[in-house]
Amino acid sequence: MNRPTRPLPATARARLPSTARPPRRQALGDAPLGGLSVDEFLRHTWQRRPLLVRAALPDIKPPCDVEALLALAEEDAVQSRLVTSFGGRWRLEHGPFDRETLPPLSRRRWTLLVQGVNLHDDRAHALMSRFRFLPDARIDDLMISLASDQGGVGPHLDSYDVFLVQLWGRRRWRIAPPGYDQLRPGLPSKILERFAPTESWLLEPGDMLYLPPGWAHDGVAEGPCMTGSIGFRAPSRHEFLREFLADSSDSLAGADPRYSDRGRLQPARPAAIPKDLHQQLFDWAKTWRPSDAAINDFIGRFMTEPAANVFFEGPERLPFKRFVAAMSRYGVRLDRRTRLLYRGNRFHINGETLASQPQPTSAQLLRELADHRQLDAASALLAIADASLVETLHAWAEAGWLHAEPLARGSWNTGTE
Ligand code: SIN
Ligand code: CO
Repeated sequence: MNRPTRPLPATARARLPSTARPPRRQALGDAPLGGLSVDEFLRHTWQRRPLLVRAALPDIKPPCDVEALLALAEEDAVQSRLVTSFGGRWRLEHGPFDRETLPPLSRRRWTLLVQGVNLHDDRAHALMSRFRFLPDARIDDLMISLASDQGGVGPHLDSYDVFLVQLWGRRRWRIAPPGYDQLRPGLPSKILERFAPTESWLLEPGDMLYLPPGWAHDGVAEGPCMTGSIGFRAPSRHEFLREFLADSSDSLAGADPRYSDRGRLQPARPAAIPKDLHQQLFDWAKTWRPSDAAINDFIGRFMTEPAANVFFEGPERLPFKRFVAAMSRYGVRLDRRTRLLYRGNRFHINGETLASQPQPTSAQLLRELADHRQLDAASALLAIADASLVETLHAWAEAGWLHAEPLARGSWNTGTE
């Protein structure tokens, strides 16, 4: 379904603990690809052809039950949609939804779609992390749909790759190759005018269907069911440049030369654009060049920008000493909503760029934090030895971007190891 959308002392520098190695590549069996290795999948399937994997996640349990999903759909900060096709008429409503107003599961032909469940639930985040054999920069979110019998969103195509994981109950997926994208006019959601499926499968819990962008698909529930869809982000040139130009225009506002025409003579024709005015604007447009550093920083900020509905809340008070003590005891872990990406020694987190370039050893620790989404207590001790790194981590903890505290059992599973 279309998605709406600093330096270490010598002792510390001497040797990093074994966890500071880059994470090993996902071992065969870790990725939910059945018998296929990640390499094979990436080489022959990803962005090329659909793939059905039976029992991809054999012991799957929905990360949240019906009640929890309905509770999420009640929240303002959660994007949710209800699609119904009662009496053959398609309708789309946007949340939040009071659960009393939703149709009962015993009524056929409706589906509730809840976006970004990974932002709100550790188990959903853990499920999404099983797909980290693809880069974090590409992974968008986990949407969960709850459907009554015969519920679905109708035949459509998405511009992004998607893994459709059957979480509970059964759903029949029919698919058709790209090539036809005419939409039925006058409908609130994008439904294809014509859909000629070439394949059809009934998915059971734990089965998974991968679809590259542009493949038409229609999933119809056979009895009540829940489906998880792991979506990917792929910026288009227009999306990227629109944001980049808006961001750049903010940074141009400082020293701002203005056109002036002192000494101007009376124009022969009042409606003609004066030559010098046109030339000045033309030159400003033509000679504007962002620096490489500005472009690089923007790319990092752009790719780590939190979703519009994500608001971090830090702890009320987090004295530095208390944070350091907790860090040395428990290590640190990124908040499940935090996006931390890097390129060499440049780090970008939740739409900001780390201003200072950390020393090589500290950069290694930060890369470890980004890749594993945690630093264990041994690595945290090394981080503490670097005054400016620990200050950065403290600031991130105060912002609610990371935590130094014991884990609730079973709540921390990022799936990389
Ligand atoms: C999708 O088509 O991308 C998912 C829709 C659903 O879960 O019903
Ligand atoms: Co879709």
